[in-house]
Amino acid sequence: MPIPACDLTLSRLGRRATAPSITALMRTALETPGLLSLAAGFTDNASLPVTAVAEALRGLAARAPDLGFLQYGTNAGRPGLRVRIAERLLRHDGRTEEAGDSVARAAWAERVFMTNGSQQALYLAMQTLCDPGDIVLVDRPTYFVFLDLLAGLGIEARSLPVDAAGRIDAAAVRRLLSAMRADGSRDRLKAVYFVGWFSNPSGRTLGADEGRALAAALRAEDCMVPVIEDAAYREMGYAEGAAVVRAGVLSEPAWDGFPRLHAGTLTKPFATGLKIGFGVCDHDAWRAAMLHVKGHQDFGSGNFAQALLEEAIAGGAYDAQLAILRLVYREKRDALHGALLAGGLSARGWRWALPEGGLYLWLEGPAGLDTGGSGEFCRACLREGVLYVPGELCHGDAPPRHTVRLSFGVLNQEGLAEAGARFCRAAAGF
Ligand SMILES: Cc1ncc(COP(=O)(O)O)c(C=O)c1O
Repeated sequence: MPIPACDLTLSRLGRRATAPSITALMRTALETPGLLSLAAGFTDNASLPVTAVAEALRGLAARAPDLGFLQYGTNAGRPGLRVRIAERLLRHDGRTEEAGDSVARAAWAERVFMTNGSQQALYLAMQTLCDPGDIVLVDRPTYFVFLDLLAGLGIEARSLPVDAAGRIDAAAVRRLLSAMRADGSRDRLKAVYFVGWFSNPSGRTLGADEGRALAAALRAEDCMVPVIEDAAYREMGYAEGAAVVRAGVLSEPAWDGFPRLHAGTLTKPFATGLKIGFGVCDHDAWRAAMLHVKGHQDFGSGNFAQALLEEAIAGGAYDAQLAILRLVYREKRDALHGALLAGGLSARGWRWALPEGGLYLWLEGPAGLDTGGSGEFCRACLREGVLYVPGELCHGDAPPRHTVRLSFGVLNQEGLAEAGARFCRAAAGF
């Protein structure tokens, strides 16, 4: 006789947790033979750095009997890798003198903690700042997995107002903050989050003046809440030096006095399978809390993956891989863009900007079109054999119905050409 399953009562967190919003679409992708996915945020398989990883491993193995890289590491991560991260960050922020100064590097490295992908840094940030019912302001559009994370923790997301060009509208931010003060919700506002470079999903990079105006608006409204800058694609600009176009929040004086977290990753720019990211936080108590929670979760991210990355950065393989990816993704962007143009999409009223980095095209369809996952347009795309991410998933509130995120990370040139053509055929019916 089968043993009956025992009833259990999940915690509030367990009950709130639902499948990520993209799950149903991904399941469809797997279950539909021949479907081409422009939805997944995965990276290019063909250019994964297998030789560089093998060489890094040989380098580590040659250090036997010192095999510490196969042991547990420390909670905050490998000291040498944290110094490398600090050095890169200082350079990206235009602070080249300090990047060459070992004392300055060591001071910054103290603020760095390595994580299981930058996703974990984002989660730790939210766990340590927010309680259920709290509010976080997010850019518009924003990284939809971050929105899922907020929902799972019972946190409310509200979108930062933007102008017609998609830039954060600082005057409207001030109006929003004063309305929040008036209705009492301002007390629940705990943080501001945005994707700083070559955004997922919009491809946009926040302008230096735009970031300063946001900081000034928050300061003027006496609202100096923690700021979280997501730098997942900072190193993935197609032009060499694109990471340096503006300093991040840690170096930008407009943000002085705000608790700041810069969340970065070594996955997308090198190998996603290594799943190592980092946080850099200048607020001691917040950073300590994140590290305590991290200690409870895993007491240290994979030391082996960190050691491989430390070796790859020190030996130059990491930067060599970035140089390859710049070409690979620019060509992929062009392939998808070309396919959409050739398919007549812009003539049908669709608009998109060409990103200078990252993995995504962000499309605005004709006004009134519904690109939602259960709508007729989505079904038409599935019938044509192509999958996309509905833009409505990428908004803290008031989602527009006519936007779409297309990822060109995974498919090869032919796949992108075919997927783009299918998308255009589906769009022709609307
Ligand atoms: C904007 C953004 N932030 C963070 C992440 C998390 O990446 P990882 O955990 O691989 O560092 C991603 C991954 O897609 C992303 O697109």
